[in-house]
Amino acid sequence: MRPSRLRILAVFLAVACAPVSAGTTYIKAGRLLDVESGRLLADQAIVIEDARIVGIGPAGTTPIPAGATVHDLSAKTVLPGLMDAHTHLHGDADLQGYRALAVSLPAAAIKGAKNARVTLLAGFTTVRVPGSPGYADVALRDAIAAGEVDGPRILAGGVSIGITGGHCSDNNLLPAEYGAVGEGVADGPWAARQKVRQNVKFGADFIKTCSTGGVLSKGTEVGAPQYSPEELKALVDEAHSLGRKVASHAHGATGIRNALLAGVDSIEHASFIDDEGIRLARQNGTVLVMDIYNTEYILGEGEKAGFLPESLEKERRVGATQRENFRRAHQAGAIIGFGTDGGVYPHGQNGRQFSRMVQFGMTPLQAIRSATLVNARLFGIEQEAGALKPGYYADLIAVDGDPLQDVSLLEDVKFVMKQGRVYKDE
Ligand code: ARG
Repeated sequence: MRPSRLRILAVFLAVACAPVSAGTTYIKAGRLLDVESGRLLADQAIVIEDARIVGIGPAGTTPIPAGATVHDLSAKTVLPGLMDAHTHLHGDADLQGYRALAVSLPAAAIKGAKNARVTLLAGFTTVRVPGSPGYADVALRDAIAAGEVDGPRILAGGVSIGITGGHCSDNNLLPAEYGAVGEGVADGPWAARQKVRQNVKFGADFIKTCSTGGVLSKGTEVGAPQYSPEELKALVDEAHSLGRKVASHAHGATGIRNALLAGVDSIEHASFIDDEGIRLARQNGTVLVMDIYNTEYILGEGEKAGFLPESLEKERRVGATQRENFRRAHQAGAIIGFGTDGGVYPHGQNGRQFSRMVQFGMTPLQAIRSATLVNARLFGIEQEAGALKPGYYADLIAVDGDPLQDVSLLEDVKFVMKQGRVYKDE
């Protein structure tokens, strides 16, 4: 190759491989959903500098800055990037029950990278990962933030903490002679505090615990409490004093109440929540994260996906009641965050839960707010995400049509931008 050609190739490679700096971007939005006012505004424009929004207003009075990259979404509806408060990026839906035992930690880490990308392309620009093996979520969060892997912004829960034989802490699949003990087992208040400290040491953003049994774990009773009130109080106290919020998995009413009285920040699943639980959640401002899409996926797949027969039996007791209690809790004024338990169903289908939330009592706007404003507050990032405003991250998506009329449009997101960078543009 002649030297001049080599130089051209070198320049081309340098430009192609340079870390993407978004520069100035201008978005023409045919319609823009202001999630705070609930209004759909026509012919809007958004000006973005690198990762953040610097201006937003009517297109007619918002000029295109010189040199800006323009994205014409004038045939679409633009809204803030979605957030899922409960997705297990390191798990896959076809690896349930005993199949999960064959997944090594490095394999789980690689699955995480794959699923992070799928989740981002589905329109979810921030997610909370409540529990993953070996702090794989912390590594994934940091790799995404460093631009090494494409994915949503992650809040990492680290290792889930619970009792011996617990739903989210222990490995209950193998007989005693294997000596398998889950990495999150902590019995007693001080052991629970120690595990919180360890999670914080290794980079967890929040703490995940389990205060009842679960559907998908072997040998746990879904309605029965796990952890005593004393243990839960110690765990929450330690987490809060280290500046971390606590998410507690809880299906049964007693375990829900124990977690609420201990001061957790969110209840995951909340399937059998009773009036007292709803009252306490309202009084404390605790967010309920109810994964009401899951049930139809689990019962639809059955043993094909490896779900244990006992899990299917438990799901038949939980699913329909959870949906009715979602309706009750919402009608009673409880705060509901959007969380799906991704990984139980295939990643990327997160948006399917919106229409179930509407079916069980929310308006489309309320369902969208739960995945934006409510989750941003739960994640502690409400000053920079969850809405489209100057100073906020340029995390936004676009869909065809009007999601306030048809919320299922959020199952088919056409445009995804995170921190000013476009990941999808159909
Ligand atoms: N991870 C949860 C558990 O095992 C999944 C529950 C799914 N079922 C439901 N109806 N939300 O308990």
